[in-house]
Amino acid sequence: VVTGGGRGIGLAVADQLAQEGWQVVRLVRDPGRAQPLAAAAPGQLVQGDLSSRRSTRAAAQALLDACPRVDALVHNASIWPAKRERNEDGLELAFAINHLAPFLLNHLLEPRLVASSARVVQVSAGLAVKGRVDLDRTPTGEDFHPIRTYATTKLCNLLLVGRFAERWAESGVTITALHPGVIRTGLGDRSGPLGALLKLVKRRWASPAEGARPVVRLVRDPALATVTGRAFDREADWQLPAVALDIALAARLWTQAGELCELPLTQPAF
Ligand SMILES: NC(=O)c1ccc[n+]([C@@H]2O[C@H](COP(=O)([O-])OP(=O)(O)OC[C@H]3O[C@@H](n4cnc5c(N)ncnc54)[C@H](OP(=O)(O)O)[C@@H]3O)[C@@H](O)[C@H]2O)c1
Repeated sequence: VVTGGGRGIGLAVADQLAQEGWQVVRLVRDPGRAQPLAAAAPGQLVQGDLSSRRSTRAAAQALLDACPRVDALVHNASIWPAKRERNEDGLELAFAINHLAPFLLNHLLEPRLVASSARVVQVSAGLAVKGRVDLDRTPTGEDFHPIRTYATTKLCNLLLVGRFAERWAESGVTITALHPGVIRTGLGDRSGPLGALLKLVKRRWASPAEGARPVVRLVRDPALATVTGRAFDREADWQLPAVALDIALAARLWTQAGELCELPLTQPAF
């Protein structure tokens, strides 16, 4: 399962996996707009929107209905908004889509992930190290900043990877995070002169296929079958700064995500 598989890095991940014979299920907001796979195998599209608690729950149910087993789950969908917008839960959109949706999907799909000792891959970003989590203001975007907010949500991803690795330690499910490189996609596109400049700069960036390769490696490399709780910068170990290894902050973020997703945070017995 690849979220945000209709374009960009997610599309390339789906394509590379399909070419290797995986049955790929792409979660997309609008199946009509999703780009087709180049691979011979068509894959499957599941409609789902990760922007709110309600819609993410519906997306999780649609995935459970579509996938009798899940061997890999790639959290790829993300936004990089230029201005603050809030979702129907009153939460800032990037916080909801980039951070809360993977958290909620991991919980709702957990039985299916455990059943096949799945690999979960969280696509983060190098900019995560510039993030600053303010547990009181970040969820509603009171500290919104057109660059730092995206970075903060990607830092939230890194902080929770360690928590999920602990939760799943006895279950066979693994979780890793990565920075896929600086890749030429539509992420963070802007209008106006700044947008035009960004388009020019992006021409020099690496292709989505290059961004997908380290993601696919985490999904399928047999040498990484038991690797969990680790972060990678493309294919190398990512030496994370202290802010991404703050266990106390990760614990508070976890509790808050549970409350915001209205999930009972019990420790399962695997
Ligand atoms: N590009 C880079 O240089 C770069 C660098 C570091 C990390 N990353 C990470 O790589 C991942 C992929 O990004 P990308 O560069 O491929 O960006 P992209 O081309 O903008 O793709 C983002 C994907 O997320 C989906 N998405 C957005 N909001 C959604 C929602 N509410 N529900 C479901 N899906 C939603 C989009 O679907 P729609 O088509 O419906 O909009 C799209 O498929 C992201 O996690 C990003 O943070 C990218």
